[in-house]
Amino acid sequence: MPDRPAFPVAPPPMSRNEELLSRSLLSVWHPCTQMKQHERLPPVPIARAEGIWLYDFDGKRYLDAVSSWWVNLFGHANRDINAALVDQLGSLEHAMLAGFTHEPVVRLSERLGQLTGLGHCFYGSDGASATEIALKMSFHFWRNSGRPGKTSFVSLAGGYHGETLGALSVTDVALFRDVYAPLLRNSTQVASPDWRGAGPGETAEAVALRAARALEAHLAEHHAHTAALILEPLVQCAVGMAMHHPAYLREARALCDRFGVHLIVDEIAIGFGRSGTFLACEQAGIQPDFLCLSKGITGGYLPLSVVLTRDQIYRAFYHEDLARGFLHSHSYTGNALACRAALAVLDIFERDDVIARNREKSAMISRRCAQLARHARVRNFRNTGMIWAFEVSDAKRDFAQSFHRGALDRGLLLRPIGNTVYFMPPYIVTEEHANLLVEGTTALLDTLD
Ligand SMILES: Cc1ncc(COP(=O)(O)O)c(C=O)c1O
Repeated sequence: MPDRPAFPVAPPPMSRNEELLSRSLLSVWHPCTQMKQHERLPPVPIARAEGIWLYDFDGKRYLDAVSSWWVNLFGHANRDINAALVDQLGSLEHAMLAGFTHEPVVRLSERLGQLTGLGHCFYGSDGASATEIALKMSFHFWRNSGRPGKTSFVSLAGGYHGETLGALSVTDVALFRDVYAPLLRNSTQVASPDWRGAGPGETAEAVALRAARALEAHLAEHHAHTAALILEPLVQCAVGMAMHHPAYLREARALCDRFGVHLIVDEIAIGFGRSGTFLACEQAGIQPDFLCLSKGITGGYLPLSVVLTRDQIYRAFYHEDLARGFLHSHSYTGNALACRAALAVLDIFERDDVIARNREKSAMISRRCAQLARHARVRNFRNTGMIWAFEVSDAKRDFAQSFHRGALDRGLLLRPIGNTVYFMPPYIVTEEHANLLVEGTTALLDTLD
């Protein structure tokens, strides 16, 4: 028998961090995670957030250099968005949008219409629901127009449009797709205009035009049964911030027109200023048939997504016959609080001339990154608008996790995708934050073996 202590010994009290973590591991299933890996790299308890910083219960802070999965635009606990939400709570939190309407959803739809030049807004909740809506709407338009055979979709190699079954069918990221492949619809992927695929002496524009020829060949053969091309404009984020020249978008628009195929532009990640313009499409001077927005739309506060489309498409659904109407709904469609947060975001864009200011910030951060870009382990350093990315050469198998861990130890939230490290900070990022980011990243690269 082991010796018993004379008096029972109470276990040492848990810190708030430890307590929340142990309860979390017993009750929460985290997204995009092999939960067993939390044995080595447990989730970080977050007590509160302010500006660019996330804080744990001991006051340790983390610079949110990925905008909490690309959603946050103007910092955490933003005063203006908070005030708008508190005000909205005083009148209406939510009312179903089927058969009812309300001021925030009407005002938001009017303003998005003015900003995009597109017509009616159809709301969803997350990005993936916007993708589902756009795919279904495209197919249904063709059906209502006497072309029921247009049932296929084409997307780009490495494209990502969400992880529900329809969205995953047009997503081409093996990690997310392969296991569920037996559940997915067939879709075709054409060459990506990613400029990292350039041959010797080939420019980014030439890569884009070469990829456009592959799209042309596909559409020439398959346009009769193709409903739409769906793509992420300028930056394919989830595959590892693959960037391309706007020439591809111009060509894709022209080819879709020529072959009678819809162009669905997924600006879920890149919209709301990430690309350097409010919408990436502006840089190519094109208008899509369907535009998907989400993430930054509420400044990172609440789930909301929207699909905007052209009036001609809207009119094809307008009929006495119920089955010709767009048959799709989510319970929280057009949630009043989320719409009000989105209105506050648009107010900030206008009041603070955010796009012009971001141009200066982007130039400042790129200057701060100049030395990092020349680091011996850095390849393909690139920037579009408020996104910076590079590959790390000779990265070990567990690079993404160990870099993430090392960054957390230095007070930085960075989440590499494979061997791609990227920065996508909220727009309130300052020179001081940029210095912390660049110095921390450089120090981590210096210690890699
Ligand atoms: C381009 C793009 N489309 C769609 C989605 C899916 O959005 P959600 O995660 O809100 O479903 C994402 C998410 O990262 C995205 O980057």
